[in-house]
Amino acid sequence: MKEIFIGNYGLEQVGQTLTATGWVANIRNHGKLAFIELRDREGILQVFVDSSIADFEKLTGLHKESVLAVTGELVKREERFVNPAIKSGQVELRAEKIEILAASKVLPFELDSHAHTGEELRQKYRYLDLRRKQMTENLKLRHQVTSSIRDYLNQSDFLEVETPYLTKSTPEGARDFLVPSRVFKNQFYALPQSPQMLKQLLMGAGLERYYQLVRCFRDEDLRGDRQPEFTQVDLELSFATEEEIRDLVEGMLKAVVKAAKGIEIKEAFPQISYEDAMSRFGSDKPDTRFGMELKDLTDLARQHENLFVQKALKEGGLVMGLCAKGALGRFSNKQMSQFKQRMKDFGTMSFGSLGIEAGKLTGSLASSFAPYQAELLPLFEAEDGDLIFILTGAKKRVQEALGQLRLILAKELDLIDESKLNFLWVVDWPLLEWNEDQNRYQAMHHPFTQGIFEEGLEAGQLKSHAYDIVLNGYEIGGGSLRIHGREAQEEMFALLGMAKEDYERDFGFFLEALDYGFPPHGGLALGLDRLVMILAGEENIREVIAFPKNGTGHDPMLESPSLVSEKQLAELSLELKD
Ligand code: AMO
Repeated sequence: MKEIFIGNYGLEQVGQTLTATGWVANIRNHGKLAFIELRDREGILQVFVDSSIADFEKLTGLHKESVLAVTGELVKREERFVNPAIKSGQVELRAEKIEILAASKVLPFELDSHAHTGEELRQKYRYLDLRRKQMTENLKLRHQVTSSIRDYLNQSDFLEVETPYLTKSTPEGARDFLVPSRVFKNQFYALPQSPQMLKQLLMGAGLERYYQLVRCFRDEDLRGDRQPEFTQVDLELSFATEEEIRDLVEGMLKAVVKAAKGIEIKEAFPQISYEDAMSRFGSDKPDTRFGMELKDLTDLARQHENLFVQKALKEGGLVMGLCAKGALGRFSNKQMSQFKQRMKDFGTMSFGSLGIEAGKLTGSLASSFAPYQAELLPLFEAEDGDLIFILTGAKKRVQEALGQLRLILAKELDLIDESKLNFLWVVDWPLLEWNEDQNRYQAMHHPFTQGIFEEGLEAGQLKSHAYDIVLNGYEIGGGSLRIHGREAQEEMFALLGMAKEDYERDFGFFLEALDYGFPPHGGLALGLDRLVMILAGEENIREVIAFPKNGTGHDPMLESPSLVSEKQLAELSLELKD
């Protein structure tokens, strides 16, 4: 075993005879002498090989990525040869003996040309892809993040407890991955979408503070920030208020950022209500690294109705807009019609834009909006050269569509300061949301969330003790205070349209647990992969997961999912249709 990684060799080791083991990152053989860049996990060490040593001939035909053990004296490089770009740049190893521990064939792709290697190839040879510096650094960062989380929670008297993976589904909203049981014919385990009920039961068990870095499984449409299996930092506390839970998580995230990035965040994370997040940013996970907030023009529009706004106003919809500073003339007709199409896809009504030139409105909507000009410009703080987009339609659709447009424009106009880490708490969530397809309410978070019941409010207006934590426009975590009494839990199931016999069948064990002295409790789960992705400056969580699935949930290296043998199927009493 190495005492020191060769990438960390420095002046302290000069004069010692050492055996350096690692991979050949590069080799330059000049005939009389050769230089090898030998790489290990921590970096590169330059090895100098003189043709006078017997092992020099071993370099002939040696491919990159072969594994060597090189013994020799570590010497200080001459001043003019010092390489400040690498940690071991002040030294080099003078090879006396070279042993080839494992020769490598020519690799299927170059490790230093990351951008040009297709995703499938990278994943098929993931163990090679992980040799790349950036990938190794991402895994190291992930380790730093998880260690600092464990340190923080251990110091705060949390107990790490594991919960089973072969379990019964909890209603987290996605489809379950099912595992057939051999012993119990025709019955299935579900892989957990999260250990929600189990962590609550640990509170019922009196553990008071629990955490787990736990794998969760969800069969849902994949995106850059979603994998079918991902890791949560899952935690739960008894006898804590909403504020105490948020403070604890905030402290933990600050400790993580300090440990992983060396950045000290002193200020409290800002908080925004769900309602304000939607009306100001058109998103329940606002990216606050830039402004361009949405403005509601509905009242104004009522004063001078025109064709553009008429339909929306008649149907109780909204007229909203946003102002892109200095964006007049920045977009081609093609881009403008793409924006229009995107807005339409959200089911909105009318969409158009207004430019401001020499203090006057220009563009297709100019005449319709001229009567509003005196109020419109100050509302958007608009001035010459700005471009205002206006959209009408049903409230949520308009908000979400403009929220998307805001993000697209920010990218196009390069408004995002990538060095920022903008954490944000989203609070005051509705308890329920209407599911149009199923014609019923569904839980905004999950059915165990504690509602805030106020006289006179309809179900859809009820708020809850839920909170999400957002970083740079990504939802990195969510949690809530939980229901801890049977009656309230049954009421919640009923609000969700579940019949008594259904919830008794699926959740009877849980309801019964609430009968035996269940403490008030709450918690949260962070999406670890997302958090690390953002801290690593990556745009896909695959980049921070050692062996991820591709965009279709397939693993090109393991070739999984895959067919299984007839025998295995027979043991499980399963028969395949085609
Ligand atoms: P929720 O469903 O919001 O809450 O999940 C918590 C966090 O997990 C991350 N996440 C994902 N990350 C990668 N791929 C996915 N497919 C994926 N799905 C979710 C997100 C999300 O914020 N049991 C509750 C937590 C609680 O109430 O304590 C839960 O699972 O970052």
